[in-house]
Amino acid sequence: MTSLRPIILAAGLALAAPAMAAEEAAGPSFDQKLAACAACHGENGAKPIMAEYPIIAGQHADYLAAALRAYRDGRRNNAVMASQLQALQLTDADIDRLGDHFSRQTSPLAAAKAR
Ligand code: HEC
Repeated sequence: MTSLRPIILAAGLALAAPAMAAEEAAGPSFDQKLAACAACHGENGAKPIMAEYPIIAGQHADYLAAALRAYRDGRRNNAVMASQLQALQLTDADIDRLGDHFSRQTSPLAAAKAR
């Protein structure tokens, strides 16, 4: 029975491959975009990996969306964020959804606001 495992695994990979290719053609999924943000801004945007990276969790949704549009349109200059918008192919709908998503996350900013 154990000897069948590699075959089953290989069959699973073969089935997954076309799905992965289709996803690539359509661009990254929303979850993949969220995961990309988390790589720098931390899980749920609440714990950035570097002190200079901003906390985006709990920030106002319209502020977040405005910042993302400003990077995209070159009104706010930051090479790191501009390249993210390009690489992830963020649409207007994505930007609004990302703003909404991160505004709802539990945030250390909220603790600071309460003081
Ligand atoms: C490679 C690291 C990296 C990734 C990945 C990344 N960011 Fe950023 N982000 C930054 C840095 C650095 C800044 C600060 C740029 C500046 O000074 O303008 C920033 C700034 C921002 C700001 C402005 C925050 C403010 O307070 O004005 C928003 C909003 C933002 N990022 C959202 C996102 C979203 C949404 C994603 C995922 C789609 C993302 N970022 C992915 C590094 C990253």
